[in-house]
Amino acid sequence: MRVFVAGATGAIGLQLVPRLVAAGHEVHGMTRSESKRALLSDLGAVAVVADALDADQVAEAVGHAKPDVIVHQLTALTGVERYTERAAAPTNRLRTAGTDHLLSAGQAVGVRRVVAQGVAGFGAYARSGGSVKSEEDPLDPAPVREMRETLAAIRHLEAAVLGADWTEGIVLRYGAFYGPGTSLAPGEEQFELVRKRRFPVVGDGGGVWSFIHVADAAEATVAAVEHGSRGVYNVVDDDPAPVAEWLPALAQTLGAKKPMRVPRFIGRLFAGEPGVLMMTEIRGASNAKAKRELRWRPAHPSWRQGFAAA
Ligand SMILES: NC(=O)c1ccc[n+]([C@@H]2O[C@H](COP(=O)([O-])OP(=O)(O)OC[C@H]3O[C@@H](n4cnc5c(N)ncnc54)[C@H](OP(=O)(O)O)[C@@H]3O)[C@@H](O)[C@H]2O)c1
Repeated sequence: MRVFVAGATGAIGLQLVPRLVAAGHEVHGMTRSESKRALLSDLGAVAVVADALDADQVAEAVGHAKPDVIVHQLTALTGVERYTERAAAPTNRLRTAGTDHLLSAGQAVGVRRVVAQGVAGFGAYARSGGSVKSEEDPLDPAPVREMRETLAAIRHLEAAVLGADWTEGIVLRYGAFYGPGTSLAPGEEQFELVRKRRFPVVGDGGGVWSFIHVADAAEATVAAVEHGSRGVYNVVDDDPAPVAEWLPALAQTLGAKKPMRVPRFIGRLFAGEPGVLMMTEIRGASNAKAKRELRWRPAHPSWRQGFAAA
């Protein structure tokens, strides 16, 4: 198939492009930078330079490639050290306007499938009921103020992709990425914070996280490109775990001292309300549907071994 990857040079894109190429697909990879053309060519893709927020440029890029499938992996999270709505605003634009431009361009050339990056963690699912959510479970009906715009942008992306009746719209709700190119990798920001004992457990550390190695995320994405059906899939590992469990285990893996514990009000001072929710209230996700329907299995079924191999 001919596959157009928007976000081809990001953490997930760099894992995805070579896998699509190896599977025999003709890949067109989008970037804003002329200077990244060579990187994409080296990975076996046709490089396309365009700004995802410019409708005309996207229409031209997609119109020229005439893909069978569009993959949307656009975010703007490089350099975002701590979540705020202000820091998330560029990513939110990619999830709203960026999604709309890709869909319009795709409809014009009749793409048969659109696979887009969704979110399983970050408080997307309701913070009540069971600790591990399936795709059927409700999203948070009352997000806190500081997360409202971001969750609205994620929902816009989902509604637009799933509601496109002219194509097979697929949303992959990924868990928290770790591994090469992410901030959860040796020498990178989050691992370093843990190593330096500057990533404390907040409150009871009861927030449940679902992780996914970026290579596994890319494998699931290839499966969705090739044989996914319209709908949502959680793309997470087999081992959702509360912060109180995974954070000390990660510290141990990194040879660091046990993380400090701080009460919620201290956590709020440093990480804001979203940070506190991530540490205490968010829910994990189940990958049963992705395993069953995409016939996919994570090569790193648990972060317990995965972090050590990252
Ligand atoms: N589920 C998760 O845990 C999750 C999800 C997403 C990101 N993250 C984290 O966020 C950090 C940064 O993510 P990242 O490496 O994927 O980088 P990023 O800075 O978020 O960029 C991702 C991709 O989007 C493209 N892009 C951004 N704005 C664009 C625009 N206006 N037009 C065209 N393309 C545009 C970039 O292309 P060019 O820069 O080449 O133009 C790049 O290919 C990593 O630590 C990652 O793990 C985590």
